[in-house]
Amino acid sequence: MPRDSLGHLVAGRISPPRPVPSTIPRPEYVGRPAPKPFTGSDVYTPSEIERIRESGAIAARAVEAVGDAIRPGVTTDELDGIAHDYMIANGAYPSTLGYRGFPKSSCTSLNEVICHGIPDDTQLSDGDIINIDITAFKNGMHGDLNKTFIVGNAAPDVTALVDHTREALARGIKAVAPGRQVNVIGRAIESYARRFGYGVVRDYTGHGVGSAFHSGLIIPHYDAAPAFDDVIEVGMVFTIEPMLTLGTTENPGSIAWDQWEDDWTITTRDKSMTAQFEHTLVVTERGTEILTLP
Ligand code: MF3
Ligand code: CO
Ligand code: CO
Repeated sequence: MPRDSLGHLVAGRISPPRPVPSTIPRPEYVGRPAPKPFTGSDVYTPSEIERIRESGAIAARAVEAVGDAIRPGVTTDELDGIAHDYMIANGAYPSTLGYRGFPKSSCTSLNEVICHGIPDDTQLSDGDIINIDITAFKNGMHGDLNKTFIVGNAAPDVTALVDHTREALARGIKAVAPGRQVNVIGRAIESYARRFGYGVVRDYTGHGVGSAFHSGLIIPHYDAAPAFDDVIEVGMVFTIEPMLTLGTTENPGSIAWDQWEDDWTITTRDKSMTAQFEHTLVVTERGTEILTLP
């Protein structure tokens, strides 16, 4: 189970909700259908940035703890338990838990799952790739990152996809500078991805993050100019989180996807493998500083 006869993923069984001690403050959206519209700024003060960095570091160390447990046979629910326990032990609330009804403390997206996979009883197999996306909330701030891990040994084209997606994030980060429009980020990512013939997911994007999980600021991962012309400013905080696929790029670079009945899991329509990497960063005079380092 959790794979069909072709080896494609199917939905597994989701375990009951994990409790969070009442001493840990919750984001405002928990227990409500959706967050309140965010009216604040994407530009933060130095002391606010330090709070985002603390949340980001907790999330990053949770990703590391999960990464250390990745091996064939482990379930994505067991990995979610590690993420959950790490955040709780560090006084942080797992931002995804109860976000628009998402039931778990991390997103675990395997193989053809582009993003928002729900941890369940699916066991990892040798040759899988799995993205672990974790956001921690502490002192009123969210820090959001993800990484894709290889389970055992993957096919060479899959290993290359993972390496090139990590590099695509690095290229996007390098394109950030105050005074430029946010669309320079996707231009750098897409032109790099195109060299290898990868698909670039357009419908899921980077975002402003900090006091809100998703502020409303959108960071595309493709060349969206002249749209998405928000000007990058010193002190702005946002994520960059490209999703690249081995699938064929039908309409210029745009990748077709499906959503499962669980209302969350997003897969490539052609079931091709897909990888993602994400960091939260702050804009500085000289470029950026990553806020989601362990
Ligand atoms: N962490 C994801 C992001 O990078 C968002 C996950 S929302 C969830 O923006 F509800 F799916 F968990
Ligand atoms: Co994320
Ligand atoms: Co994000």
